[in-house]
Amino acid sequence: MPKDEIVNLAARRSLFYPTAEIYPGAPSGFFDFGPDGETIHRKVLGFWRNELVEREKFVEIFGRQILPEAVFRASGHLESFNDPIVQCGKCHSLFRADKLIEEQAGEHVPESADVKKIDSIIAKNKVTCKKCKGKLGAVRKFNMMMKVDIGATGDLPCYLRPETCQTIFLDFARVYKTMRRNLPLGIAQAGASFRNEISPRQSLLRGREFGQMEVEIFFNPKKIDEMENFGEVKDYRINLMLLKDGEVKPIRCEDAVKNSIVSGRLVAYYLARVQQLYAKYGVPVEKMRFRELDSEERAFYAKETWDFEVEIDLGWMELMACNYRTDYDLSGHAKVSGRDLSIVEDDGERFVPHIFELSAGIDRTFYVLLDLAYRKEKRGPDERVYLSLSPRIAPYLAAIFPLVKKDGLREKANEILSTIQDYELDAFYDEKGSIGKRYARVDEIGVPYAVTIDYDTKKDNTVTLRDRDSMGQKRVKIEELPELLWKLKMGKLSFDKL
Ligand code: GAP
Repeated sequence: MPKDEIVNLAARRSLFYPTAEIYPGAPSGFFDFGPDGETIHRKVLGFWRNELVEREKFVEIFGRQILPEAVFRASGHLESFNDPIVQCGKCHSLFRADKLIEEQAGEHVPESADVKKIDSIIAKNKVTCKKCKGKLGAVRKFNMMMKVDIGATGDLPCYLRPETCQTIFLDFARVYKTMRRNLPLGIAQAGASFRNEISPRQSLLRGREFGQMEVEIFFNPKKIDEMENFGEVKDYRINLMLLKDGEVKPIRCEDAVKNSIVSGRLVAYYLARVQQLYAKYGVPVEKMRFRELDSEERAFYAKETWDFEVEIDLGWMELMACNYRTDYDLSGHAKVSGRDLSIVEDDGERFVPHIFELSAGIDRTFYVLLDLAYRKEKRGPDERVYLSLSPRIAPYLAAIFPLVKKDGLREKANEILSTIQDYELDAFYDEKGSIGKRYARVDEIGVPYAVTIDYDTKKDNTVTLRDRDSMGQKRVKIEELPELLWKLKMGKLSFDKL
């Protein structure tokens, strides 16, 4: 189960909470983000956009969530996007068979295992119903896609997309032609995906509706080693956990390519960019790894997979699937749609591009950043809880507090708020309660700085700037405040050097 403290904090401060919670029968696996949670959520996504999509010169599209059935016939999801389920013969409870086996027998069931094999693992380990210990029935495959029928007669079978990337494959030919770009071309998309998870009991970590931020990089397989910027990462070490020994080793990108640990420079380059992205999010590098998956664990469309995982209290959590999907998707869609999705490069070569994808979960990234930022400190008889979030992910960069509402301090504080907002820095205003309580409230949602306006402000145009993590305070001039805050946000200045 997720750390209780995170879930309690999330509920207490309305960061996230169950969808339609006022209705007792609402299905599990759906969560809403409250006001401060939504701000963090937006920033997690904005950070990905700024630090990966824009810096890598990818293009971004926005596609719809409902797609026709033919798309999923071509993609293989209708046939292969299944979870094995099993029902108790006595109390009729339904379970995901692989999870039940893992819980009761500690045996890992590969994603590709067929139902007969899973039946035999259940029999061998005497796995029974979790609720009543009853005998389990035969394992069957359950398709995880959610069906929607479109039109008044409902005769247009469609599905909610189980991964955002399908639209990218459908739009590739148009985007490639109209954007006048060469390969490798990265097309990004962020949005909601839907999966009918059997037992979504892990809060945001396993939802039935969840956010994905995905990039599909289209490239010529013969040119997988022609990466223009590879020199920037060749000596950078990526934490690879190889199948052969199961150990995590920081391996230079160049060595990963030379020793054929990855398929080519393009793969090593983007794995490096992923690790650097999450380091900028504030995740310590030693808590990250790329786990190599074997053919039984990989998704049906992947030839090579590195699961990007981050260690939290619950264990290693997969945040991003880095899949080499070959020409599986474009060839599949070309076949079913009848459209030629091959391209011709300047040298006249015609081919169907291959795809390497970076498929990250937004909700999981959100949860993991909160988990890693959570701090609880004893302060005499009291406890202090705060989120040590990076200033770029925190819901606001600064909280603006007038010491009291009267004597013109409220007006002065609002003037400062508006100046900070003029610089497009996020600030939050609060005048309710004691200063100590106001500090505690913003600490809990991770606001890194608080600006207090007091009687001296009126005399000398200075304010108190307080740092969330150290609780240190410094007196600064109002006219310098926007620039200082911006430098603190971008890591160009540290509070103790102020
Ligand atoms: N397009 C490839 C793809 O979707 P995936 O491994 O199925 O690959 C990618 O999913 C990422 O999406 C995962 O690493 C995870 O972060 C997130 N994800 C998948 N299922 C999820 C769920 N039920 N709830 C929350 N996040 C999920």
